[in-house]
Amino acid sequence: MHSPNMFTGKVAAIIGLGVGAILVFPGRDAPDSAGSGYPIWRGTGLPGVLAWAVVCTVAGASVLAVGWLYRLLFSPLELLRTPHEVGYIAEDGRSKAQAANEVRRRRKTGELPPVYPNGWYRVLDSHLLERGEVKSVSVLGEQVAVFRGQNGKAYVLDAYCPHLGANLAVGGQVVGSCIECPFHGWQFRGDNGKCVRIPYAEKVPEFAKVRSWPSCEVNSQILVWFHCDGEDPQWAVPEQPEIATGEWVYRGRTEHFINAHIQEIPENAADVAHIAHLHTPSFVSGIDLRYIHSKTFAFLRHDWKVQWEPEAEPNKHCSQMLVKHAFTVFGLHWPMLDVHVVARQIGPGVVFLLFNHSFLGRGLIIQCVTPVEPLLQCVSHIMFYQSNIPPMVPKFFLRTECIQFERDVMIWNNKKYISKPLLVKEDSAIQKHRRWFSQFYSENSPRLQYQRDTLDF
Ligand code: FES
Ligand SMILES: [Fe+2]
Repeated sequence: MHSPNMFTGKVAAIIGLGVGAILVFPGRDAPDSAGSGYPIWRGTGLPGVLAWAVVCTVAGASVLAVGWLYRLLFSPLELLRTPHEVGYIAEDGRSKAQAANEVRRRRKTGELPPVYPNGWYRVLDSHLLERGEVKSVSVLGEQVAVFRGQNGKAYVLDAYCPHLGANLAVGGQVVGSCIECPFHGWQFRGDNGKCVRIPYAEKVPEFAKVRSWPSCEVNSQILVWFHCDGEDPQWAVPEQPEIATGEWVYRGRTEHFINAHIQEIPENAADVAHIAHLHTPSFVSGIDLRYIHSKTFAFLRHDWKVQWEPEAEPNKHCSQMLVKHAFTVFGLHWPMLDVHVVARQIGPGVVFLLFNHSFLGRGLIIQCVTPVEPLLQCVSHIMFYQSNIPPMVPKFFLRTECIQFERDVMIWNNKKYISKPLLVKEDSAIQKHRRWFSQFYSENSPRLQYQRDTLDF
């Protein structure tokens, strides 16, 4: 699927080239000033050609610049990283993909907790699934077909048809609230996976069904519930009222793939010490850990005050990280740039980052972590912000959050999970976080059986 940014860019480029082409190649019938029937430049010699070339270039560049400016100011930020793009060091003439594959092969996994905690996981953002459309998604080591029925409801079924194994998400057709298999036309209900029609059979066997996943659509995202014992959802992902009412609108999204165990990512919130070390250099210092402490941009700093606490019953599946952020330039504090963020974790896979700024408004980034494989996490950030605040503001917040996040990615992609870490007193929130997170594992939670070493990006 093309992102709107790419689309706008292409349109601008086409218009620019079109304008250029019209100017460079006027129609054969367009007479010049002498009425000779030849394009003007043919009669004006080399200087005329050059002048036209300059006009065309300027016109094309202006159209492109307008398109670029429009995208920058108004369209949502779309930053979708490929699995090897961020967080690897490609040295000795290797590509980033080669570096990523080597890191995955060499990885020491350590003693890992189970790989798929029980909870809600995002599979798609709502705007990526039209009515009557089906998408193939990899989640928790499974292939699922996510489709939107003609009734507007989103459904998630196992992708492989129980008849002869065709993938329902590859060529399957949505019929009402069912999906029709592309191979022999069997139809399965979205809500419970039951087969309701076999076009060439007299009777549909009672047992003909495909696994349906408990799912919900909230805050413009489609999520599935996973429990290793097939238990029903034990909590709900809360709805953010400002999104439902349209007071906060969509301002962009990012997507990253992380080569680590899922628990490493939320644990970051309780790892208070890393924030001062890794995230103090400002966003202009970039994402490459080798250079973020360089002196060039040392005059810009983020200062953080962070606290992490689990919530009490009935919300023990939630925890909160309270962040007070200040910005300093040459050691001078700029209070008007202070931002307070509450990062509320809901289960193992969803975090609400609520922004509250004195005059730059309020909004929310939803961070979702979804295991694709045991040691590969898809992390998405989606941003909603007050509609009356210029889109540049939330886009800037999302971009800077993304820069800080990509520093963590470089750590996660290359680290080992340590089950018994060597901690000091000041690290105590990490152990507290591990105890809190363990509620999402149960006896039958799947564990990593073997190390995959054949899957390349
Ligand atoms: S494989 Fe799906 S209908 Fe035959
Ligand atoms: Fe971090």
